Amino acid sequence: MEWSSTLVLLVIFLLSFIILSYMKILKEKSTLPPGPMPIPFLGNLFQINTSNIVSTLMKLKDKYGPVYTLYLGPKPGVVICGYKALKEALIDQNDVFGERGDYPVFHNFIGDHDIGFTNGESWKNRRRFALLTLRNFGMGKKSIEERILEEAHFLIKEFKNTNGSPVNLTVYLARAIANVICSILYGNRFDYEDKRLLAITASIYNNFCIMSSTWGTLYNMFPDLMEYLPGPHKKMRRNFQDIYDISADFIKHHEKTLDPKNPRDYIDCFLIKMKEEADIADSSFYAKSLPRTIQNLIFGGTETVSTTLRYGILILMKYPDIAERIQEEIDNVVGRNRSPSIADRNKMPFTEATIYEFMRFCDVIPISLPHSTAKSTVFRGFSIPKGTLITPLLTSVHYDPEYYTDPTKFNPYNFLDEKGLFKKNDAHMPFSAGKRICLGESLARMELFLFFTSLLQNFTFKPMVSKEELELKPTASGLGSVPPEFKCCILPR
Ligand code: HEM
Repeated sequence: MEWSSTLVLLVIFLLSFIILSYMKILKEKSTLPPGPMPIPFLGNLFQINTSNIVSTLMKLKDKYGPVYTLYLGPKPGVVICGYKALKEALIDQNDVFGERGDYPVFHNFIGDHDIGFTNGESWKNRRRFALLTLRNFGMGKKSIEERILEEAHFLIKEFKNTNGSPVNLTVYLARAIANVICSILYGNRFDYEDKRLLAITASIYNNFCIMSSTWGTLYNMFPDLMEYLPGPHKKMRRNFQDIYDISADFIKHHEKTLDPKNPRDYIDCFLIKMKEEADIADSSFYAKSLPRTIQNLIFGGTETVSTTLRYGILILMKYPDIAERIQEEIDNVVGRNRSPSIADRNKMPFTEATIYEFMRFCDVIPISLPHSTAKSTVFRGFSIPKGTLITPLLTSVHYDPEYYTDPTKFNPYNFLDEKGLFKKNDAHMPFSAGKRICLGESLARMELFLFFTSLLQNFTFKPMVSKEELELKPTASGLGSVPPEFKCCILPR
């Protein structure tokens, strides 16, 4: 065959491929919610700001309404926005919208053996077990409070040692918060210079930044292709492996020293459960699933809380009058001679409201984790097939003008009534909602209250630039909202 006929055949083949792909897309889109027109294979890539996917999703909401279709790669997904639509989906129809959707930045490295990225009976069993075990170890009870306060004391000591010289808080806060969850999982906290703690916090921070950047967004859209391309996303596997290896060492040691009558921590409880279910063929508790669930809990429990603390301190430096009001409340309720306790929380409405406002404003996990539809459904008049990827846009809840008068402004009064008492707002979903709601919510709330109050009881944070120059906008928004880097001086009160 001559080269010209080969070329003609190739062009015909390509044109037919493109026409058929468009016909498939048009058929798919005809029953789905409205949304921008994708192109074959690349989807809506050219309409997405990959370094700040959240800003794209918010703009598309303004154009297409609270429920729209977006192709994050070759397949269509549905984005749900605003409190009302998200409540209808995640809470009122949680059996349909409560499945976990594919999330390659985690799923490709962790597999189906964990809690956060599994579905079905295994997810249900492991989630129930984790909640129960964390509760037995004091989640929501006093013993965990003591662990958090103990860690807050270590951090206060570290902060005192900075002697007012400029520091970046990222590593300090990450190590302290990682230690809280490590003490629950592994049975002991680490010294702040322990190589294992440094490896855990560096791996988590590094993955959180990659997942929140262009690389993470592209990896989620085109995982197979990205495996062949160089870039920072190639480090994600190594980072996960580092945490896995540390957990595997702890598990080995626990197996040798296990006393079934005296479980010391999460690992012991899991090993006991594995023994109990050894004869059950399809048990959800087996050797591989232990380090994987630990990875979920460490990852979920570290970066989220430490980022909220870091972001919160940045905001307080921008609004020192708010920091002073919290300190005044601490002085009145707790004083300077004892540690704060969870029992103080009800008597400290301004502090509590400010923490709620931190979580709203910082919006640390802006697009939650992906969900998917467990069966075909009709939602607000649109047909959504089984297995469609659902993106719950939590930012649109936290910045919903129907629920917050001036959502772009930081304002603790969003959570205070006229009498200065704490007031709830439905449009507050930092932990998402429904059956997939964050399983660390109560631990996280305790940590945020006890760390903020302990730190502000002891210190005032001073910025290196004037408060007007402090920038609050996140530097990246994907899996997480990453606050701008800053240094500050920690001055004893
Ligand atoms: C400020 C702190 C935190 C925030 C903002 C946060 C936020 C979230 C969000 C938005 C989700 C996704 C829920 C969904 O799919 O709809 C989630 C899931 C999860 N979080 Fe958190 N989280 C925080 C702290 C924690 C802590 C302390 C832990 C560990 C104890 C944790 C462990 C998990 C796990 C294991 C999941 C997966 C749950 C499942 O799929 O069933 N998180 N979190």
